[in-house]
Amino acid sequence: MDKHNIKNYDELLKKSRDIEWFWGEVSKEVVEWYKPYKKVLEWTPPWVKWFVGAKYNIVHDALDKHANSWRKNKVAYIFEGEPGDRRKLTYGELNIEVNKLANALKTLGVKKGDRVGIYMPMIPELPIAMLACAKIGAIHTVVFSGFSAIAFRERVNDCKVKVVITCDGFYRRNKIVPLKSMVEDALQDAPSVENVVVYKRTGGDIPWTPKRDHWWHELTQAQSSKCDTEMLDANDILYILYTSGTTGKPKGVIHAHGGYAVGTALTLKWVFDLKDEDIWWCAADIGWVTGHSYTVYGPLILGTTSVIYEGAPNYPGPDRWWEIVEKYRVTVLYTSPTSVRLFMRHGEAWPKKHDLSSLRLLGSVGEPINPEAWMWYYKNIGKERCQIMDTWWQTETGTFCISPLPLTPLKPGSATKPLPGFTAEVYNEEGKPISNAGGNLVMLTPWPGMFRGLYKDPKRYEDIYWSRFPNTYLAGDVARKDSDGFFWIQGRSDDVLNVSGHRIGNSEVESALVSNSKVAEAAVIGKPHEVKGESLTAFVVLKKGVEPSDELRAELREHVGKEIGKIARPDEIWFVSDVPKTRSGKIMRRVIKAKAVGEPIGDISTLANPEAVDEIGRAR
Ligand code: WT7
Repeated sequence: MDKHNIKNYDELLKKSRDIEWFWGEVSKEVVEWYKPYKKVLEWTPPWVKWFVGAKYNIVHDALDKHANSWRKNKVAYIFEGEPGDRRKLTYGELNIEVNKLANALKTLGVKKGDRVGIYMPMIPELPIAMLACAKIGAIHTVVFSGFSAIAFRERVNDCKVKVVITCDGFYRRNKIVPLKSMVEDALQDAPSVENVVVYKRTGGDIPWTPKRDHWWHELTQAQSSKCDTEMLDANDILYILYTSGTTGKPKGVIHAHGGYAVGTALTLKWVFDLKDEDIWWCAADIGWVTGHSYTVYGPLILGTTSVIYEGAPNYPGPDRWWEIVEKYRVTVLYTSPTSVRLFMRHGEAWPKKHDLSSLRLLGSVGEPINPEAWMWYYKNIGKERCQIMDTWWQTETGTFCISPLPLTPLKPGSATKPLPGFTAEVYNEEGKPISNAGGNLVMLTPWPGMFRGLYKDPKRYEDIYWSRFPNTYLAGDVARKDSDGFFWIQGRSDDVLNVSGHRIGNSEVESALVSNSKVAEAAVIGKPHEVKGESLTAFVVLKKGVEPSDELRAELREHVGKEIGKIARPDEIWFVSDVPKTRSGKIMRRVIKAKAVGEPIGDISTLANPEAVDEIGRAR
């Protein structure tokens, strides 16, 4: 018991009933304010402020304080590139790199509140770029490097990015992904962008726009390795991260410095029980919230050593990850059920080839973990010694909300219970708590790491998350709470799909399809998939005179890849003459899905074109 960071769980839970007092108390363990707050919480639903009046910058706790302590020579990041190159960066070295880049950004005119777009792969320069922005009070918006140029452009234009930070290319399955060429395409129509900073990762020819483009190494070379951290308000914006919603337009989720620092650091300390001697590997890409919270900010605030791996999980062989675990003696591994199912398919011989005895704890995130994957992970990776922490949370929540702790009992497949300081519930349609039945997953009180709104769209924030039940956060997931109070997450309740643990809006893919000149209409649904959890199936109505063909199928798949990114390419495309719609013209995805997976389709009397349902049946 003693070895755990949480010493007295029951007492902590009891204390956490007064959330304001509680978060004020526990925040002392992880953050140092420049100037103390006047009030822990200011809650005028749905708008929240945490640590009101405090002067702060997350970089102080993530970097400055370590660079001035014994941790200066402790490794912050162990990096392994896909080709096998390795680098270790201490907190002291990380601090110098961040300072140089921060000074360089200042020379490009970046100021507090300016947006900086970061489009980078999994290399240490990605967290360096994020921290450099935060240090000077600029707002970073990281776009996952697997997103397409068009998706990058859309995000850059939405928040009017002033400077872009990227690299020439990166390695994926022994090929070079030409990221700078993609940036070049994206910036054809992005008038707000004044400068582009390019880190040299692969070498080789790249397109270059003189005056606008600058090599990272040239720009930072002459810069001082010292840079003062901007003293901000604890509620100033740290970043914008776009995530999928139910419309074609991604939502710019906003997070702020102070509360997010407290939330990410404490939840990580509690759930994964990190200590100074741990080697932590959160294997998610930093382009998603998981990497923001648990590869960058949370672990740095705790002074942890983290692993960053650039490439594909099964390159050159399906044991690449296990080789990394063995080589660096990783103690805690955090990944998604999709990755587990991928390794499961390759077979247990691969992890067996490596010494995984350094592992003491495992984590799962992104989707419900099915019993088969849970058992495989537990047996073959954890060797029946390591508990699995199934953490439920979202881009919006910023931090884990429902999760076991190493010392609490587990039920495989359940994310167990809300963490101390979180008040999750399951509500029926009338807004009453229910047990043993599926309902709406909600949060009754605010929490420090929660998002502060959607960029430039306060109304959408209120409508989506706060209008269903008064003063209550609607997560958009269906969950069941059992008689022991354990939560079982069942999936999204809105028109959002979960492919390989990534959120993709049905309508986002539909808009991409319809933007092809041969397509009149499209309906996209998710079908259960053995590895990815859900796979995308599209029903496409072609324009008059366009003939269906396999070539066209391939063309449309590529088209979606170009519009959004490879992860959004439908696995199946079916050409139909019509898609089921209501009389008001709303596509009935629920009916389409039921028909396509062979479930009862229910009442279709409200459909304008019930005959369209039969055609869908062929797709099985
Ligand atoms: C959605 C959030 C935040 C981490 C990465 C995804 C699903 C997340 C779990 C879990 C069942 C989960 C939910 C949620 N989800 N974790 N442990 N068990 N489902 O972030 O892209 O914002 O997606 O992922 O449906 O709403 P995201």
